[in-house]
Amino acid sequence: MSAATTFTNTASTSANTGATPLLEIKGIVAGYGRVEVLHQISLTVNQGEIVSLIGGNGAGKSTTLMCISGILALRGGEIHFAQQRIDGTRADKLVARGLVQVPEGRRIFPRMTVLENLMMGAYCRNDRAGIAADLEKVYALFDILKLRSTQLGGTLSGGEQQMLAIGRAIMSKPQLLMMDEPSMGIAPLLVTKIFEAVRALNQEGLTILLVEQNARAALRLSHRGYVLETGRVVLADESKRLLVDPRVLESYLGE
Ligand SMILES: Nc1ncnc2c1ncn2[C@@H]1O[C@H](COP(=O)(O)OP(=O)(O)O)[C@@H](O)[C@H]1O
Ligand SMILES: [Mg+2]
Repeated sequence: MSAATTFTNTASTSANTGATPLLEIKGIVAGYGRVEVLHQISLTVNQGEIVSLIGGNGAGKSTTLMCISGILALRGGEIHFAQQRIDGTRADKLVARGLVQVPEGRRIFPRMTVLENLMMGAYCRNDRAGIAADLEKVYALFDILKLRSTQLGGTLSGGEQQMLAIGRAIMSKPQLLMMDEPSMGIAPLLVTKIFEAVRALNQEGLTILLVEQNARAALRLSHRGYVLETGRVVLADESKRLLVDPRVLESYLGE
């Protein structure tokens, strides 16, 4: 199976015409204990794009994000972000540089209020005006968070907690937002709302790497996609082409 080697940014709303790489993963190898899970994965996310990473359970999607976030050490390969090599850099330093992940399963702080949760995202910032402006941006995106701002995070529904997790990530002022299965376990109506918010964030210029098992939804939203199978990229193409690719249809878009 040959992966496409040339990519174009299909974003009609993006100001970018020539592709500028923001994140470049080059042949990364990683694993747990004696088990190698990622076998030389390479992928690129260009400035202004939504790129989806799809694949079945256990394919290595979350592991890939953990490597990018600096949570899991590489055994080989390199990761470059904004033209600088970042593998080996501590996770908190990467957040401060704008590489922000919305983790799988949301992981909000249940005993803190919605507002406190959001402000946790801004802990490494000290630009008060910017923080206030971003809080308004989050509230504009998800009005429910404003309504529930004094409520404890743990009292929100699953979908609302996902919105809170995204809001918290936005409060970190991301340059690249990585999301791990934002639709997992969430009511369909809220999934639609969350995906609309992701699109809106991208249209404002935010670059997004979206990990999803819900391949159809992810490919409809993204410009390009990569298909991961047992720790290898087996397909890479524009999302609209992956949506009609028989191999993707058979394995990931079956009804
Ligand atoms: N903490 C861990 N320790 C050992 N093996 C793990 C750990 N996390 C994930 N794995 C294994 O790594 C593989 C890839 O997992 P993961 O990256 O979570 O896949 P995905 O997110 O695509 O479902 C799976 O075989 C999984 O069992
Ligand atoms: Mg996962």
